[in-house]
Amino acid sequence: MSEIQRNTPLISQLLDTWIKGETSEEYTLANYANAAAIIFQNVSAVNWAGFYLYHSETNTLALGPFLGKPATALITPEKGVVGKAFTTQETIVVPDVRAFSGHIVCDVDSNAEIVIPITTANGQKIGVLDIDSTELSRFGKQEQTDLEHFVQTLLQYVNAI
Ligand code: SME
Repeated sequence: MSEIQRNTPLISQLLDTWIKGETSEEYTLANYANAAAIIFQNVSAVNWAGFYLYHSETNTLALGPFLGKPATALITPEKGVVGKAFTTQETIVVPDVRAFSGHIVCDVDSNAEIVIPITTANGQKIGVLDIDSTELSRFGKQEQTDLEHFVQTLLQYVNAI
């Protein structure tokens, strides 16, 4: 294993493997779908993984590709964990969703959540990656670092929808 591979989270390596060579113009939706599947299959105790994508004309975050139970279709910026992470442009780690004021329930089995903004290097806000876990305090510093790396990797392969 090369030095680069050792320092690259497995989920980011899988993303590079699965979507290598696919240009963002043609493959944006497919790449989001594969990214959701990679998280769902490879991060333990995850019961929901997917994307909310920003539509500037209606100022809403719309449900994008995901795996898990059906979820709220539209979220307004600032609402829920999704809207708050999007508005503040900061990753939000929620150890216990019941303790987060304004949390939007999509699956009663969810206990912890992490939401990571997806924003291009030139500041275009594309949306967020949202992941739920059945395990309290599932996401810590290491998971945050790995998932933020994953989002940076994904940004090479997607456009705004
Ligand atoms: N819990 C999120 C809503 C989306 S579901 O978790 C898939 C929130 O509070 O924004």
